[in-house]
Amino acid sequence: MTQGISIVIIDSDADILSSISKCIKGLGDGATVDGVSTSFETGFELIHKKKPMVVIMEVNSANLDLYIERIGTILGRFPRVSLFALCDDKSSDTILKVMRAGATEFLLKPLSEVDLVSALQKVGRLWIQSPPAEAETGRIYTFFSPKGGVGVSTLAINTAVNLYEITKKSTLLVDLDLEAGDVNTFLDMNPTYTISDVTANMTRLDRTFLQSVITKHKSGIYVLAEPQRIEDIVGVSADDIRKVLGLLKTMFRYIVVDTEAGLNESSTAALEMSDMILLTFVMSLPGIKNMQKYLNYFVRLGIRKDKINLVVNRYLSKGDIKIEDAERILKHTIFTSIPNDHGSAIASLNKGVPLNEFDPKSKLSQAVKELALSLTRRDRQGG
Ligand SMILES: Nc1ncnc2c1ncn2[C@@H]1O[C@H](COP(=O)(O)OP(=O)(O)OP(=O)(O)O)[C@@H](O)[C@H]1O
Ligand SMILES: [Mg+2]
Repeated sequence: MTQGISIVIIDSDADILSSISKCIKGLGDGATVDGVSTSFETGFELIHKKKPMVVIMEVNSANLDLYIERIGTILGRFPRVSLFALCDDKSSDTILKVMRAGATEFLLKPLSEVDLVSALQKVGRLWIQSPPAEAETGRIYTFFSPKGGVGVSTLAINTAVNLYEITKKSTLLVDLDLEAGDVNTFLDMNPTYTISDVTANMTRLDRTFLQSVITKHKSGIYVLAEPQRIEDIVGVSADDIRKVLGLLKTMFRYIVVDTEAGLNESSTAALEMSDMILLTFVMSLPGIKNMQKYLNYFVRLGIRKDKINLVVNRYLSKGDIKIEDAERILKHTIFTSIPNDHGSAIASLNKGVPLNEFDPKSKLSQAVKELALSLTRRDRQGG
């Protein structure tokens, strides 16, 4: 007897069939692949024979009309089937045609596990024990600085991209710089939904809703973007941020938060919720003095010292103040130092691409990769 949601998959690419099947197997008893086929005709017979709840079918945009017709053929004959269209094109025209043909879900190739699980959950016939076990212990890394312009966004964004590249585990970047966030610019994105769509709908807050307002970037990371309009910032409370981050922790393995300089309600909430705080500063006497004040403040807030990682950005090895000097004054080890590399930083920003895509060999790109690697090492050690 089949268990959970029964699924038939039709895709002309055998590799895709096997990777989706593998992914579904990993979900446990919640879903079962009842059959796969590289041809529509055999797939159709399979649907007839197996009566699956869900059909995942490729929709090739180069021959859209044919696939729209196929959707119609399946749903005409098996109207109770939930049809997930697996498409290679996300233009609004294609999405509209596919959804009008009756598809339940529009999934983009290459299919990610998070998208698949979320779509299966929406089918709602069975509660899949999801997200997969390892995602239930997501880790929140918040980049924060008392002062503006020190490179918090650059480091947060590129750390997220590297965490995903290194681990291939679901990674989300949250732009909590609500007023002046610039993740969209850094990553050349124009998302339909932003964090204000989440906080304006707190009563609907659940995984499915959150999933629907999160945008995928072509690097593979997911992004919860900053509000597009100043007037949308209203009413984002610390409590909202706590709830949203708490839920995100059950959906993503890594959550990297970019914050606005200086403390406010939402960044304080994020700092409290964080598994690791990446406290960022540049090496100068005022910078160090400021750090000292904040380190003391974090102690008073009850934040454990080992949760705080000091990050020196734009470090000049020939500068007046050495790492050891700062460590001695602050009585805190420096987690990492990122070299000053204005050329790469500004060029990747202006191009709207992550550092490792712009110039993976640059000093800056290598240093951020090293930072992400250190975080994964700590993660493995349970830190
Ligand atoms: N390691 C670095 N070397 C040289 N320039 C850098 C480095 N890191 C960031 N920058 C540059 O510093 C500027 C500010 O960076 P970024 O926007 O990341 O800082 P921020 O702390 O997020 O600022 P804001 O307070 O405006 O949010 C950008 O022009 C960026 O390209
Ligand atoms: Mg910033």
